Amino acid sequence: MQPRNTEAGAHAPAPIHARAPHLPRSRPGDWLVRRAAKGHRATRLRLGRQRLVYLLGADANALIFGHDEWFSAREAFAALEIVDGPTSVVLSDGADHARRRGLIRPTVAPRSIDGYLSTMADAADEALDELDQAAPFDAYAVFRRAIRRSTLRVLFGEDMARHADELGATLQPLLELADTPPQLLVWHRRLATPAWRRAQQARTDIDAFVDDRIQQERAHPPRSTHRQTDAERPAADHETRGAVLPLLVHGRDGDGSGLSDQEIHDQAITMIAAGYETTSAAMGWAVYLLGAHPDWQHRARDEVSAVLAGRVPAPADLARLPLLRAIVDETLRLYPPAMISARHAVTAFEYDGRRIRPGDLVIFSPYATHRDPSLYDQPLRFDPQRWLDEPRRAPSEFLPFGGGKHRCLGSGLAVTELTVMLCRLLARGPFTLDRPPARARGLSSMRPDPAVTVSWGTGA
Ligand code: HEM
Repeated sequence: MQPRNTEAGAHAPAPIHARAPHLPRSRPGDWLVRRAAKGHRATRLRLGRQRLVYLLGADANALIFGHDEWFSAREAFAALEIVDGPTSVVLSDGADHARRRGLIRPTVAPRSIDGYLSTMADAADEALDELDQAAPFDAYAVFRRAIRRSTLRVLFGEDMARHADELGATLQPLLELADTPPQLLVWHRRLATPAWRRAQQARTDIDAFVDDRIQQERAHPPRSTHRQTDAERPAADHETRGAVLPLLVHGRDGDGSGLSDQEIHDQAITMIAAGYETTSAAMGWAVYLLGAHPDWQHRARDEVSAVLAGRVPAPADLARLPLLRAIVDETLRLYPPAMISARHAVTAFEYDGRRIRPGDLVIFSPYATHRDPSLYDQPLRFDPQRWLDEPRRAPSEFLPFGGGKHRCLGSGLAVTELTVMLCRLLARGPFTLDRPPARARGLSSMRPDPAVTVSWGTGA
């Protein structure tokens, strides 16, 4: 495979980025990058009775994504049952997986997302309005709160959004457990560690909260027995009831059957748990990267003001913001929040001369792939231009949302949310990075740690 964009000067105008700032690193991620650089494309590790195999490189990703039938998600993510529930789409295989995924998908389909833009912009504005204009702030924390509020509002409605902070605090032990390496999760469960017990308590609390909302939703009539047009749909209906529960509770698939109570419950919790942590991490990285590269920030602000002139973006505007989209993609390339994902092999196969056996936990890495110099020219350089030159990449080369049948359901929602939040931030004026994060922390939601400290103004 040839690196892209290798010709000097192939990029258009940019004397941008004369000096590459030091990038905060992920320690486990860098270990994988070093393994790949040394040509170790399959690395075996043993942890007690567990056999792990790290498969690195675009070829490995293509093999995994092209052969869903070789793997079981249920076995790979069994320890996440405590977070998502036994029937969660994340832990489902085969026909059950397809049915559950099919019933959730409409809530995050492009048509639905179009209706969420103003809610997302409002949440960003509310968060930015609360700031003291003269004081530095932690952009990761500010946008995490905004993204939690807006995701809960669009997916679960205003009532749930009102409890966003409290719900976030309750969920925290579950999110922390979900961010543990897959091989360690099993040990937390076996040893009933304090982290495991905290997560169990959180799950009990959250169960009661969600069950309550499901009961309320049952009292509502289904939204419609036929596919509504925009004119028929009640204005901002999602703001009161949210998109997810009406669909889970009243939705029917092809043969007229719906989800069981347990299934409704588990898919709701899955969408809450998956919905904001990763997107917030990506937003933290985007703000950091724009703060560290004022030249790109300047160009992004120019694009936002030329296209929107202070307006909140409408769905049709998104296609007119190519640089912002390039910045989102370049952020997800350098800092894919899910820096690894896993599959449990149920079929034997070979990769790079190694035999993978049933029972192996196969781990692949978006982080290591995105920093592979055979795929990306100067991979450590923040260079949104590469996406303007070549907007599409093979799913095995650019995989912030994983791939195959378990590819992230919320990718469109996340990219839109990041774009809208960045528009509202950039519309307020320039900001300066006061202190970069020291490191990238976490595996399934790798985030800037301890903070992304910025202040308004150019710092001049
Ligand atoms: C930047 C933000 C996000 C990132 C980086 C991300 C990343 C991922 C990744 C890597 C996977 C596993 C894919 C695999 O192993 O092949 C996944 C699965 C999933 N994500 Fe996301 N995600 C994000 C946002 C969201 C949002 C906003 C939602 C929902 C509101 C969501 C819902 C899900 C669900 C339901 C699954 C399980 C899909 C399945 O197993 O069929 N994600 N995500």
